[in-house]
Amino acid sequence: MADWSAQQYLKFEDERTRPARDLLAQVRQKHVRQVVDIGCGPGNSTELLARRWPQAQITGIDTSADMLRQARERLPNHKFIEANISHWSPPDGTDVVFANAIFQWVPDHLLQLKRLASALPEGGVLAVQMPDNLDQPSHALMREVAALEPWRETLANAAGARDLLPAPGVYYDTLQPVCRRLDIWHTIYNHVLDDAAAVVEWVKGTGLRPFVDPLESQERKEFLDIYKARIAEVYRPQPDGRVLYEFRRLFMVLVR
Ligand SMILES: C[S@@+](CC[C@H](N)C(=O)[O-])C[C@H]1O[C@@H](n2cnc3c(N)ncnc32)[C@H](O)[C@@H]1O
Repeated sequence: MADWSAQQYLKFEDERTRPARDLLAQVRQKHVRQVVDIGCGPGNSTELLARRWPQAQITGIDTSADMLRQARERLPNHKFIEANISHWSPPDGTDVVFANAIFQWVPDHLLQLKRLASALPEGGVLAVQMPDNLDQPSHALMREVAALEPWRETLANAAGARDLLPAPGVYYDTLQPVCRRLDIWHTIYNHVLDDAAAVVEWVKGTGLRPFVDPLESQERKEFLDIYKARIAEVYRPQPDGRVLYEFRRLFMVLVR
Protein backbone atom coordinates (compact mmCIF):
# COMPACT_ATOMS: atom_id res chain seq x y z
CA MET A 1 0.00 0.00 0.00
CA ALA A 2 1.11 3.59 -0.61
CA ASP A 3 2.17 5.64 2.41
CA TRP A 4 -0.55 7.34 4.47
CA SER A 5 -1.23 10.99 3.65
CA ALA A 6 -1.20 13.17 6.76
CA GLN A 7 -2.92 15.93 4.77
CA GLN A 8 -5.86 13.72 3.72
CA TYR A 9 -6.15 12.25 7.23
CA LEU A 10 -6.25 15.69 8.86
CA LYS A 11 -9.18 16.91 6.72
CA PHE A 12 -11.42 15.61 9.51
CA GLU A 13 -9.02 16.19 12.38
CA ASP A 14 -11.60 17.30 14.93
CA GLU A 15 -13.91 14.33 14.27
CA ARG A 16 -11.04 11.84 14.17
CA THR A 17 -9.57 13.14 17.43
CA ARG A 18 -12.89 12.96 19.28
CA PRO A 19 -12.57 9.21 20.07
CA ALA A 20 -8.99 9.82 21.26
CA ARG A 21 -10.34 12.43 23.69
CA ASP A 22 -13.08 10.05 24.83
CA LEU A 23 -10.56 7.23 25.31
CA LEU A 24 -8.14 9.42 27.24
CA ALA A 25 -10.96 10.59 29.52
CA GLN A 26 -11.23 7.01 30.82
CA VAL A 27 -7.52 6.74 31.69
CA ARG A 28 -7.55 7.82 35.33
CA GLN A 29 -3.82 7.65 36.12
CA LYS A 30 -2.51 10.95 37.50
CA HIS A 31 1.18 10.30 38.14
CA VAL A 32 2.49 9.31 34.78
CA ARG A 33 6.11 9.57 33.67
CA GLN A 34 6.37 7.64 30.43
CA VAL A 35 3.72 7.50 27.74
CA VAL A 36 3.88 5.93 24.29
CA ASP A 37 1.43 6.83 21.52
CA ILE A 38 1.50 3.89 19.12
CA GLY A 39 0.24 4.64 15.61
CA CYS A 40 0.67 8.29 16.52
CA GLY A 41 -0.17 9.41 12.97
CA PRO A 42 0.25 13.18 12.48
CA GLY A 43 0.55 13.80 16.23
CA ASN A 44 -3.08 14.75 16.94
CA SER A 45 -3.45 12.05 19.58
CA THR A 46 0.10 12.69 20.89
CA GLU A 47 -0.79 16.33 21.46
CA LEU A 48 -3.69 15.31 23.71
CA LEU A 49 -1.32 13.14 25.76
CA ALA A 50 1.25 15.94 26.05
CA ARG A 51 -1.46 18.34 27.28
CA ARG A 52 -2.83 15.84 29.78
CA TRP A 53 0.56 14.94 31.28
CA PRO A 54 2.86 17.93 30.62
CA GLN A 55 5.63 16.51 32.87
CA ALA A 56 5.72 13.09 31.21
CA GLN A 57 8.10 11.85 28.56
CA ILE A 58 5.93 11.21 25.50
CA THR A 59 7.06 9.10 22.55
CA GLY A 60 5.15 8.61 19.30
CA ILE A 61 5.63 5.52 17.14
CA ASP A 62 4.46 5.00 13.58
CA THR A 63 5.45 3.24 10.36
CA SER A 64 4.51 6.12 8.06
CA ALA A 65 7.22 8.59 7.06
CA ASP A 66 4.63 11.20 6.06
CA MET A 67 2.74 10.91 9.36
CA LEU A 68 5.98 11.10 11.38
CA ARG A 69 7.15 14.19 9.47
CA GLN A 70 3.89 15.94 10.33
CA ALA A 71 4.02 14.79 13.98
CA ARG A 72 7.59 16.10 14.42
CA GLU A 73 6.62 19.48 12.97
CA ARG A 74 3.64 19.67 15.26
CA LEU A 75 5.40 18.63 18.47
CA PRO A 76 9.11 19.41 18.07
CA ASN A 77 9.82 18.79 21.77
CA HIS A 78 8.68 15.19 21.74
CA LYS A 79 10.30 12.07 20.40
CA PHE A 80 8.92 10.25 17.35
CA ILE A 81 10.26 6.89 16.22
CA GLU A 82 9.69 4.94 13.01
CA ALA A 83 8.81 1.41 14.12
CA ASN A 84 6.29 -1.33 13.49
CA ILE A 85 4.50 -2.13 16.72
CA SER A 86 4.24 -5.79 15.76
CA HIS A 87 7.97 -5.92 16.60
CA TRP A 88 8.00 -3.38 19.43
CA SER A 89 7.72 -3.80 23.19
CA PRO A 90 7.13 -1.13 25.81
CA PRO A 91 10.40 -0.04 27.46
CA ASP A 92 10.77 -0.52 31.23
CA GLY A 93 8.85 2.08 33.18
CA THR A 94 6.15 2.67 30.58
CA ASP A 95 3.06 3.91 32.41
CA VAL A 96 0.62 4.31 29.52
CA VAL A 97 0.47 2.85 26.02
CA PHE A 98 -2.12 4.74 24.01
CA ALA A 99 -3.36 3.33 20.70
CA ASN A 100 -6.04 5.31 18.94
CA ALA A 101 -7.19 3.91 15.59
CA ILE A 102 -4.22 1.69 14.81
CA PHE A 103 -4.90 -1.92 15.85
CA GLN A 104 -7.53 -2.49 13.17
CA TRP A 105 -4.60 -2.39 10.71
CA VAL A 106 -2.32 -4.73 12.68
CA PRO A 107 -2.25 -8.44 11.73
CA ASP A 108 -3.20 -10.77 14.62
CA HIS A 109 -4.08 -7.72 16.67
CA LEU A 110 -5.64 -9.77 19.47
CA LEU A 111 -2.36 -11.58 20.10
CA GLN A 112 -0.44 -8.32 19.76
CA LEU A 113 -2.68 -6.67 22.35
CA LYS A 114 -2.10 -9.54 24.74
CA ARG A 115 1.67 -9.43 24.15
CA LEU A 116 1.83 -5.66 24.80
CA ALA A 117 -0.44 -5.84 27.83
CA SER A 118 1.68 -8.64 29.32
CA ALA A 119 4.83 -6.57 28.83
CA LEU A 120 3.53 -3.62 30.88
CA PRO A 121 4.67 -3.12 34.47
CA GLU A 122 2.08 -3.63 37.21
CA GLY A 123 -0.34 -0.71 37.13
CA GLY A 124 0.57 0.15 33.53
CA VAL A 125 -2.28 1.04 31.18
CA LEU A 126 -3.07 0.00 27.64
CA ALA A 127 -5.78 2.21 26.09
CA VAL A 128 -7.14 1.19 22.70
CA GLN A 129 -9.77 2.43 20.27
CA MET A 130 -10.60 0.80 16.94
CA PRO A 131 -13.28 1.55 14.35
CA ASP A 132 -15.82 -1.27 14.42
CA ASN A 133 -17.61 -0.27 11.26
CA LEU A 134 -16.83 -2.76 8.49
CA ASP A 135 -20.50 -3.69 8.23
CA GLN A 136 -21.62 -0.07 7.87
CA PRO A 137 -22.60 1.24 4.40
CA SER A 138 -19.45 3.32 3.83
CA HIS A 139 -17.37 0.13 4.06
CA ALA A 140 -19.84 -2.42 2.67
CA LEU A 141 -20.04 -0.28 -0.49
CA MET A 142 -16.24 -0.36 -0.94
CA ARG A 143 -16.43 -4.15 -1.09
CA GLU A 144 -19.46 -4.04 -3.37
CA VAL A 145 -17.74 -1.77 -5.90
CA ALA A 146 -14.47 -3.74 -5.61
CA ALA A 147 -16.35 -6.86 -6.78
CA LEU A 148 -17.16 -5.21 -10.14
CA GLU A 149 -15.21 -5.59 -13.38
CA PRO A 150 -12.64 -4.51 -14.48
CA TRP A 151 -10.84 -4.30 -11.11
CA ARG A 152 -12.35 -7.36 -9.42
CA GLU A 153 -9.15 -9.37 -9.72
CA THR A 154 -6.81 -6.50 -8.82
CA LEU A 155 -8.86 -5.78 -5.69
CA ALA A 156 -9.45 -9.39 -4.68
CA ASN A 157 -7.41 -8.91 -1.49
CA ALA A 158 -8.35 -5.30 -0.70
CA ALA A 159 -11.01 -6.19 1.84
CA GLY A 160 -8.49 -8.41 3.64
CA ALA A 161 -6.45 -5.38 4.77
CA ARG A 162 -8.76 -5.25 7.79
CA ASP A 163 -10.63 -8.03 9.58
CA LEU A 164 -14.02 -7.74 11.25
CA LEU A 165 -13.41 -7.11 14.94
CA PRO A 166 -14.37 -9.99 17.23
CA ALA A 167 -17.09 -9.53 19.85
CA PRO A 168 -16.20 -7.77 23.12
CA GLY A 169 -16.30 -11.14 24.90
CA VAL A 170 -13.37 -12.37 22.83
CA TYR A 171 -11.25 -9.39 23.91
CA TYR A 172 -12.38 -9.96 27.49
CA ASP A 173 -11.43 -13.66 27.48
CA THR A 174 -8.04 -12.93 25.90
CA LEU A 175 -7.02 -9.92 27.96
CA GLN A 176 -8.69 -10.40 31.32
CA PRO A 177 -6.15 -13.08 32.42
CA VAL A 178 -3.27 -10.59 32.06
CA CYS A 179 -4.80 -7.56 33.73
CA ARG A 180 -6.45 -6.48 36.93
CA ARG A 181 -9.03 -4.17 35.36
CA LEU A 182 -10.54 -4.20 31.89
CA ASP A 183 -13.15 -1.77 30.66
CA ILE A 184 -14.66 -2.41 27.19
CA TRP A 185 -17.32 -0.28 25.52
CA HIS A 186 -18.69 0.86 22.18
CA THR A 187 -19.65 4.37 21.13
CA ILE A 188 -21.60 5.24 18.01
CA TYR A 189 -20.87 8.73 16.70
CA ASN A 190 -23.06 10.60 14.26
CA HIS A 191 -20.62 12.96 12.59
CA VAL A 192 -22.20 15.93 10.85
CA LEU A 193 -20.59 16.23 7.42
CA ASP A 194 -21.24 18.78 4.68
CA ASP A 195 -22.58 16.23 2.19
CA ALA A 196 -22.25 12.63 1.01
CA ALA A 197 -19.05 13.50 -0.89
CA ALA A 198 -17.49 14.27 2.50
CA VAL A 199 -18.04 10.64 3.54
CA VAL A 200 -15.86 9.65 0.57
CA GLU A 201 -13.21 12.23 1.50
CA TRP A 202 -13.22 10.84 5.05
CA VAL A 203 -12.62 7.22 4.05
CA LYS A 204 -10.06 8.22 1.39
CA GLY A 205 -7.75 9.04 4.31
CA THR A 206 -8.20 5.59 5.90
CA GLY A 207 -10.42 2.63 4.95
CA LEU A 208 -10.57 3.29 1.21
CA ARG A 209 -6.78 3.23 0.78
CA PRO A 210 -6.44 -0.54 0.15
CA PHE A 211 -9.15 -0.25 -2.54
CA VAL A 212 -7.84 2.70 -4.53
CA ASP A 213 -4.08 2.44 -4.02
CA PRO A 214 -3.69 -0.63 -6.31
CA LEU A 215 -5.57 1.01 -9.21
CA GLU A 216 -4.11 3.03 -12.11
CA SER A 217 -5.33 6.62 -12.27
CA GLN A 218 -8.13 6.13 -14.86
CA GLU A 219 -9.51 3.05 -13.07
CA ARG A 220 -9.19 4.79 -9.75
CA LYS A 221 -11.29 7.66 -11.07
CA GLU A 222 -13.95 5.27 -12.38
CA PHE A 223 -13.97 3.34 -9.11
CA LEU A 224 -14.42 6.55 -7.15
CA ASP A 225 -17.21 7.79 -9.45
CA ILE A 226 -19.23 4.61 -8.87
CA TYR A 227 -18.46 4.51 -5.17
CA LYS A 228 -19.42 8.19 -4.74
CA ALA A 229 -22.73 7.64 -6.54
CA ARG A 230 -23.60 4.66 -4.30
CA ILE A 231 -22.61 6.56 -1.17
CA ALA A 232 -24.88 9.44 -2.23
CA GLU A 233 -27.81 7.01 -2.54
CA VAL A 234 -27.36 5.81 1.05
CA TYR A 235 -26.18 8.90 2.94
CA ARG A 236 -29.18 11.14 2.26
CA PRO A 237 -29.11 14.82 3.20
CA GLN A 238 -30.92 16.13 6.25
CA PRO A 239 -33.29 19.07 5.60
CA ASP A 240 -30.33 21.46 6.05
CA GLY A 241 -28.38 19.63 3.33
CA ARG A 242 -25.86 18.02 5.64
CA VAL A 243 -25.29 14.32 6.16
CA LEU A 244 -24.93 12.26 9.33
CA TYR A 245 -22.07 9.79 9.10
CA GLU A 246 -22.77 7.04 11.63
CA PHE A 247 -19.55 5.54 12.96
CA ARG A 248 -19.23 2.77 15.55
CA ARG A 249 -16.02 2.41 17.55
CA LEU A 250 -14.74 -0.09 20.12
CA PHE A 251 -12.83 1.14 23.18
CA MET A 252 -10.78 -0.71 25.78
CA VAL A 253 -8.82 0.44 28.81
CA LEU A 254 -6.77 -2.23 30.48
CA VAL A 255 -4.80 -1.88 33.72
CA ARG A 256 -2.04 -4.45 34.15
C1 LIG B 1 -5.77 6.11 11.61
S1 LIG B 1 -4.15 6.65 12.01
C2 LIG B 1 -4.33 7.12 13.72
C3 LIG B 1 -3.59 8.40 14.05
C4 LIG B 1 -3.78 8.93 15.46
N1 LIG B 1 -3.37 7.96 16.48
C5 LIG B 1 -5.18 9.41 15.79
O1 LIG B 1 -5.58 9.23 16.94
O2 LIG B 1 -5.88 9.99 14.94
C6 LIG B 1 -3.34 5.08 12.14
C7 LIG B 1 -1.83 5.20 12.16
O3 LIG B 1 -1.31 3.90 12.50
C8 LIG B 1 -0.11 3.72 11.78
N2 LIG B 1 0.16 2.28 11.73
C9 LIG B 1 -0.54 1.31 11.08
N3 LIG B 1 0.00 0.10 11.31
C10 LIG B 1 1.08 0.31 12.13
C11 LIG B 1 2.04 -0.56 12.73
N4 LIG B 1 2.01 -1.88 12.53
N5 LIG B 1 2.99 -0.02 13.53
C12 LIG B 1 3.02 1.33 13.75
N6 LIG B 1 2.14 2.20 13.20
C13 LIG B 1 1.18 1.70 12.39
C14 LIG B 1 -0.39 4.35 10.43
O4 LIG B 1 0.80 4.68 9.76
C15 LIG B 1 -1.21 5.58 10.82
O5 LIG B 1 -0.42 6.72 11.00
